[in-house]
Amino acid sequence: MNIRNFCVISHIDHGKSTLADRFLELTGAVEKGKMRAQFLDSMDLERERGITIKMHPIRLNYKGYILNLIDTPGHIDFSYEISRALACVEGAMLLVDATKGIQAQTLFNLEKAKEQGLVMIGAVNKIDAATKEQVSQTKKELAVILGFDEKEIFEISAKEGTGVEQLLQAVIDKVPSPKILSEGKGLKALIFDSQYDSFFGVVAFVRIFAGQVERNDKISFLTQKEEAEVREVGYFNPKLHKSELLKAGEIGYIKTGIKETAKVKVGDTIATIQQDSQPLEGYQEPRLVLFLSLYPEATADFELFKDALNKLKLNDPALNFQIESKMALGRGFRLGFLGSLHAEITVGRLKSEFNLDLVATAPQVVFEVTTKNGKKLSVSSPSFWPDPSEIETTSEPWVELEIITPNSCFGPIFKLLKHFDFVLEETKSLTVEKSLLLSQGPLREVVTGAFYDQLKSATQGFASFSFKQTGMRQVDLVKIDVLIASEKEEAFSRVVPRNKAVEEGKKLVYKLKQALPAQQFAVALQAVVGGKIIARETISARRKDVTAGLYGGDITRKRKVLETQKKGKKKLKKRAGRVSIPAQVFLKLLK
Ligand code: GTP
Repeated sequence: MNIRNFCVISHIDHGKSTLADRFLELTGAVEKGKMRAQFLDSMDLERERGITIKMHPIRLNYKGYILNLIDTPGHIDFSYEISRALACVEGAMLLVDATKGIQAQTLFNLEKAKEQGLVMIGAVNKIDAATKEQVSQTKKELAVILGFDEKEIFEISAKEGTGVEQLLQAVIDKVPSPKILSEGKGLKALIFDSQYDSFFGVVAFVRIFAGQVERNDKISFLTQKEEAEVREVGYFNPKLHKSELLKAGEIGYIKTGIKETAKVKVGDTIATIQQDSQPLEGYQEPRLVLFLSLYPEATADFELFKDALNKLKLNDPALNFQIESKMALGRGFRLGFLGSLHAEITVGRLKSEFNLDLVATAPQVVFEVTTKNGKKLSVSSPSFWPDPSEIETTSEPWVELEIITPNSCFGPIFKLLKHFDFVLEETKSLTVEKSLLLSQGPLREVVTGAFYDQLKSATQGFASFSFKQTGMRQVDLVKIDVLIASEKEEAFSRVVPRNKAVEEGKKLVYKLKQALPAQQFAVALQAVVGGKIIARETISARRKDVTAGLYGGDITRKRKVLETQKKGKKKLKKRAGRVSIPAQVFLKLLK
């Protein structure tokens, strides 16, 4: 069969999308005049940030072959999508930037490709920008991790097109024809992505493993137990291009007519109805690892916000949200994400596409609490943290962290690992100058972004990391509440390890003191763990100088005026009850 299915994998920014652009040009899939850089990154945000968020499959016609390319996202948050893309192809091109060498995601993705048993092709990119030594060094590194001879590694410039033809020829020569389970009617197709069309509903992107599919076929979704009738099938040219039929071995799309996006899930299998069929391997529910709450700055924007989330959900099935209300912040949503980049992208899209100004609470991972009566609770929000008297044990998600770094950066990295509670387990040397550091520690520290920022600055961007969750670890965790004038302000609550509670509590009330405007009366700010005060600050009252009008005169007169002022304030405090907290304060504190 003259079909080759392959994908390109690499660390972020090593040039996948640019290489895809060259393939599009070379095969005439996009007319020269219509080409723009990173053609396959179609979302505005992708173009702005230069990162691939969604996968973009494409069919290329080259020398009598159909080459189906799936461009994959490089970031760890989307690793489930990468694994599904890899399950749809027989070959993978591993691309490494010659100026950077092997980085953490290079290894992470290679491991996934090996798990799927894919045929690998290695290429060193950006040779136009690298020195000879860099190219030769990177070739060496790549040959080692692939177990290849250096001669088998391609040297290319995706930007200038050097070596790109040879690389495409290698796809034809090295990648095997598609695996086919069976031909004929009984369809089995793996969903690796989907898109929403307001007229046709969900459009499933699929790889056909068995049988065939055409318009009007009755199909079922084996894991979701849903049924539908095919409205249209076709392939990616790179836009959706209608065809009569999709056959085993091909990659294409099926318009399902289903309007609820939640029913069509990446990793599910589409099959012919009435066929007693086992789903294809590997389906997983998207794993949400990070939760935070978002509230509109203007409470009147709530309906707009709700609408925006429903719209985003249409092309981001992993997005998960539930209504929540915290008194001072009004009504908002608790959202679940695949990771911090996913959260950042979503908040960014709510701002840029829907013009929404939002307040976000501190992000939290999902903790586990075993209660004294033996119940196991998954807690994704401090609001659901049980009373300390009911808690038997607490645990949190643990990860194995892989850092790839020049040996010269060991010092700052060891310091950083210690600071973030990571324990170094092993150091493996990759080349003379580069090593792989393996350590274990809390997911909480790597998903919130601070670790990434500090690692970058501590190593001038030379070190990179990836991580995988290894399970739960018992850690003594407590919930800190913040009281403002004795009233609990839920939005500021957070769960931390007990040995960090005092430090965190102090930081919280100090920041709050800086952010809150002065009130008519003195306001106590307290951080509390299980009813015990662990940190305290006071904002002194804004005082009008009521004695200003009294010249010289008698001190008792002055006292009397001040006494009256004090009484007035007491009354005022009783009447006002709560301190009103402007949205700006939440913004400052929860950054
Ligand atoms: P993600 O989608 O975020 O994973 O990145 P990517 O791997 O798709 O990388 P992308 O194609 O967006 O390229 C990253 C940057 O490297 C862009 O600024 C490109 O212009 C640049 N780049 C890509 N290939 C080359 C090359 O061969 N030479 C030079 N000089 N720059 C390149």
